[in-house]
Amino acid sequence: MPSNNDNIYPVHHEILGRHEKERLLNQRAKVIWLTGLSGAGKTTLAKNLEIALFNQGFLTQILDGDNIRAGINNNLGFTDIDRFENIRRIAEISKLFVNCGVITINCFISPTEDIRDMARRIIGKDDFIEIYVNAPLKVCEERDLKGLYSRARRGEIKDFTGISSPFETPENIDIEIRTDMLSIEESVKQILEVVLPRIAYG
Ligand code: ADX
Repeated sequence: MPSNNDNIYPVHHEILGRHEKERLLNQRAKVIWLTGLSGAGKTTLAKNLEIALFNQGFLTQILDGDNIRAGINNNLGFTDIDRFENIRRIAEISKLFVNCGVITINCFISPTEDIRDMARRIIGKDDFIEIYVNAPLKVCEERDLKGLYSRARRGEIKDFTGISSPFETPENIDIEIRTDMLSIEESVKQILEVVLPRIAYG
């Protein structure tokens, strides 16, 4: 998206840069991007992953759809344009954390390849770890933790992902986690196998 202001000159040559901060924290900063349907288990895995990483000495920040949409993105809905803007802002925020040496764990449906590609492009592919948190729609609908699927089926919520708005299978992932087949512990273990080598310092 082009800038609306041609008179902006971002300054990126800080004296203290990302690498000094990574050294201080003894970690490599990455964005761990969890994509998947509502109810697939993104937030649950993020919380458990954060604890596992914390216990191993890593500093993380969870960014979660419901929280972000209640705050900084409270002016956005679920049209294609708004979902793009939602993820664009999240990707930019994630980059700030990464530049500060902090690992972010992002839980966003991020339903299309275009949206996920945009996030990867903004963050940079070397800093982007994409995880598909996958449970079949039928399972997410049966769980219906927030009661949103039944409301969407009744037509009370429009553009609902999986019901009246598409979810495209992610093609560029580092790992897929089938939350209908694995325990939380096993899911976190598999994610750690992918993530730990990329965040280890030195
Ligand atoms: S995204 O598509 O823009 O990535 P995001 O992850 O931020 O979505 O927000 C998804 C959350 O918003 C869901 O977990 C659900 O609680 C809530 N929600 C409310 N309306 C919708 C909708 N129409 N489609 C999907 N999720 C919705």
